[in-house]
Amino acid sequence: MHAPKAEYSFVRRSGLALAIILLVMASLSLSLVIARQSTPDLTGNWAVRSPNADGTVRTTYFNLKQEGPRITGSIRVTQFYYVITESTGGPDGFTLVGTMKDGANDRRVQYEGKLIGDELHLTTRRRPEDRPTELVARRAPAGEGAMPARIPPPALRKVPDNGLASTPPMGWNSWNKFAGRVDDATVRSIADAMASNGMKEAGYVYVNIDDTWEAGRDAGGNIQTNKKFPDMKALADYVHKKGLKLGIYSSPGPNTCAGYEGSYGHEEQDARTFAGWGIDYLKYDWCGARTLYTDEEMPAIYQKMGEALRKSGRPIVYSLCQYGRVEVWKWGADVGGNLWRTTGDIRDTWDSMTRIGFGQNELAQWARPGHWNDPDMLEIGNGGMSETEYKTHMSLWAILAAPLLAGNDLRSMSPAILEILTNRDVIAVNQDKEGKQGSRISKTGDQETWARPLAGGARAVAIFNRATEPATLTIPWVDLGITGKAQVRDLWEHKAIEVQGPTFSVTVPGHGVVMLRVNR
Ligand code: GLA
Repeated sequence: MHAPKAEYSFVRRSGLALAIILLVMASLSLSLVIARQSTPDLTGNWAVRSPNADGTVRTTYFNLKQEGPRITGSIRVTQFYYVITESTGGPDGFTLVGTMKDGANDRRVQYEGKLIGDELHLTTRRRPEDRPTELVARRAPAGEGAMPARIPPPALRKVPDNGLASTPPMGWNSWNKFAGRVDDATVRSIADAMASNGMKEAGYVYVNIDDTWEAGRDAGGNIQTNKKFPDMKALADYVHKKGLKLGIYSSPGPNTCAGYEGSYGHEEQDARTFAGWGIDYLKYDWCGARTLYTDEEMPAIYQKMGEALRKSGRPIVYSLCQYGRVEVWKWGADVGGNLWRTTGDIRDTWDSMTRIGFGQNELAQWARPGHWNDPDMLEIGNGGMSETEYKTHMSLWAILAAPLLAGNDLRSMSPAILEILTNRDVIAVNQDKEGKQGSRISKTGDQETWARPLAGGARAVAIFNRATEPATLTIPWVDLGITGKAQVRDLWEHKAIEVQGPTFSVTVPGHGVVMLRVNR
């Protein structure tokens, strides 16, 4: 009896020990599971730093506060400042949705991520169908990248006319072709080309550097150039020696569209700097200001730089770039603007160019000497359209009294492209000193006729064919404002047209134009 009892108690005791061991193991692995599955605390300031080729750094900040699964805070992506409005946070990762007001609309970003070690590994996509971009954020000092405090907009007052741009500005701008790759050597060689290939003689004068020339500020708050532009004053001197003028770009926000340093809070200082360098033209691009100001505050914000340029004492053409919001054509001149963009960015496609160009009809009454509607820079020669389409582009911009800022590589264009850009007859229409913008006079299906009144009672007429196939039209001369006595010239064929019979019979190529000048 004893033996079995001993055996039993042994079994009982070892059973108990086993149970304890199992229990300890179970609780250990449970706590391991709990430890592994607990939600990491993302609270803090995080930065993704992506170096640009010019020595500047593009930084995205995540300022996060985590309470359980909920993450709040902000995301600053160069020019955009989002408040986190939706989030999920868990042991397996997190999702952040940022929202900001951009004019009348909301703009959103979404990031998915996971804390790995002390790094946030993130993915984001511009559109759901895009491949995700992968980013790594590391801890950044508290406060770095925080939005500066809002400076209240000034009271509205009219900025006196600067007397510049009595005809639409003509020149070149770096953005369409070079974007972030523009540098001192490129600008010099573009100026060389413009001064020697006939463009200067045809009227092109401004050589405009767009976004990405900027670096940060020095201790005195003076804006610095990055290594692509070692000496802006020397560059201006070079361009001036060629008989040309130099333009530059900035933003009323803390950052430009490409995320570079903007003029926010430094308007007068920057205007003085630009004047000191010898700058003749400023394109001032809203982008970064949308995080601090509403669209309704735009006039006051643009006025600020308008006044600063005036105070600088140098004649500087002032180009407003805010994509045509809040009917800029009604107030652009009052804030000192010589021209104002009327639309979003042009692209080098037939659709983009025609949507913008043919969409300007309602704005004709607002253009006048010194103050122009700007349907964006030319894409002529950038390769996305045919020569016929580029002639349409040039003709339409001439009828619209639009600034003619070539956007191609002037050093390597074909003779055909140079001929389009330097067509004296078409340029004469664009530069007509009466400064009246043209408008549509008739439209039948894909064919439309636009006309522009010119000085001395003359008139420019452009018959556009927006269809892909050629179109033969028979138009009564009177519908074109042409009477038997008028002299009519074809501005692309460079020859006179005889006004015979009651109608004008003309074949317009697909996506093409026939452009006439009528002298009385
Ligand atoms: C905006 C403007 C463009 C160009 C870029 C530069 O998109 O509309 O013309 O200046 O910014 O970043």
